Amino acid sequence: MDKIKIVGGNRLNGTIPISGAKNAALPLMIASLLSAETLTLENVPRLRDVALLQRILSNHGVNYTLVGKRPGEDHLTGQTIHFNAGEITDLVAPYELVSQMRASFWVIGPLLARFGEAKVSLPGGCAIGTRPVDFFISGLRQLGARIEIEAGYVLAKAPEGGLVGGRVTFPKVSVGATHTIMMAATLARGETIIENAAREPEVTDLANCLKAMGARIEGAGTDTIRVTGVERLHAATHRVLPDRIETGTYAMAVAMTGGDVTLEGTSATLLQAALDVLRQTGVDVSETATGIRIRSSGGDLKAVDVTTEPFPGFPTDLQAQFMALMTRSTGVSHIRETIFENRFMHVAELARLGARIALDGDLATVEGVAQLTGAPVMATDLRASVSLVIAGLVASGETHVSRVYHLDRGFERLEEKLSRCGADIERISGEGMR
Ligand code: EPZ
Repeated sequence: MDKIKIVGGNRLNGTIPISGAKNAALPLMIASLLSAETLTLENVPRLRDVALLQRILSNHGVNYTLVGKRPGEDHLTGQTIHFNAGEITDLVAPYELVSQMRASFWVIGPLLARFGEAKVSLPGGCAIGTRPVDFFISGLRQLGARIEIEAGYVLAKAPEGGLVGGRVTFPKVSVGATHTIMMAATLARGETIIENAAREPEVTDLANCLKAMGARIEGAGTDTIRVTGVERLHAATHRVLPDRIETGTYAMAVAMTGGDVTLEGTSATLLQAALDVLRQTGVDVSETATGIRIRSSGGDLKAVDVTTEPFPGFPTDLQAQFMALMTRSTGVSHIRETIFENRFMHVAELARLGARIALDGDLATVEGVAQLTGAPVMATDLRASVSLVIAGLVASGETHVSRVYHLDRGFERLEEKLSRCGADIERISGEGMR
């Protein structure tokens, strides 16, 4: 298995191109199931999760074709891919695929809405929590679906004539359940109202794509979304919005090492809460015409307290990265994780680098230290893995991060984007390595 080797101590200077958002590309690809006509997605990031979802969709019968590089495009430009679900041959999403990536469960919405039935494996838990699907099931039932759970699969059937619009109220904000019910509602008869909907930018991006396909949706980005069903959806072209989590991750890397980096092709509006917290630590954050400029003296970082919340609050997907940053603050930071019940697995690994972090339930207390020391560490989930990279960028000596396949799920060419700004970071291929 590949490893990432980092020698800490270099500042970061230059520019980093931000890729299309993984957490928008996935629901957008799934939306292709809603139409018999071609959906063209631009700025699709090159990620393991995207490749896995392509396999899952082709298992249903979706054809996809990659548009070749156009003049001026380099390997860091996002991909353009045509998806066509004109010939769906299989309404089953099998365990061996769904268990690898929870978002693949979301195919249940489009399959049920367009074909009247679906058999989708329960996603099962993952490293950061049990992650049930009860909101999806109760939401689809509100749209008239009959749902049973049998041998680890969700068997769903729409009434004769298809799904019927209804009122869906989520007890807790859920990004995936919002995506899924919104997609199903686009082809349901009548109006659907989704209350306590997720407000994440990726929900708005999906709604914009669905509207380009002919869906009638109002209120995306607010906590109440209204969908009026239509007969069918048609071809469209949509550009995946920039990845706010990648943006925040690299902003924190610069804050950690010191330096001056412009994050290209992204927007501060996607992550205001995280940027405000960075400013409170003493980092200079400014907006440019095409992105965000991060300047840090590399000197004292003020300790700042953070609680993760649904958008527009501080994102849970930046919690591990921020914790890495706070290990080098001049004080004590309190980080509370409210979205997932087990999202502190990076703590033990950061401690191996010399970080001082105490855990008490959903609260992590981080006491800044003057110096981190490089060591071999292990990634446990997507965002935890990148927090180890951020710590390694300032730790003295070498840090080896193993299980980097977690990194490749959500960060496109991370070591290339960092090394071009001066980081001493390289990927060591795992052939023959333990
Ligand atoms: C999405 O996951 C993201 N994944 C996650 O990013 C992100 O952390 C999460 O939203 C929260 O922002 C993608 O977009 C592919 P949820 P999702 O449903 O939709 C509970 C990453 O690193 N819940 O918003 O699966 C759930 O257990 C990933 O890119 C139920 O109880 O998350 C959690 O506590 C990690 N029942 C909370 O809601 C349900 O039916 C929020 O989960 C559904 C969710």
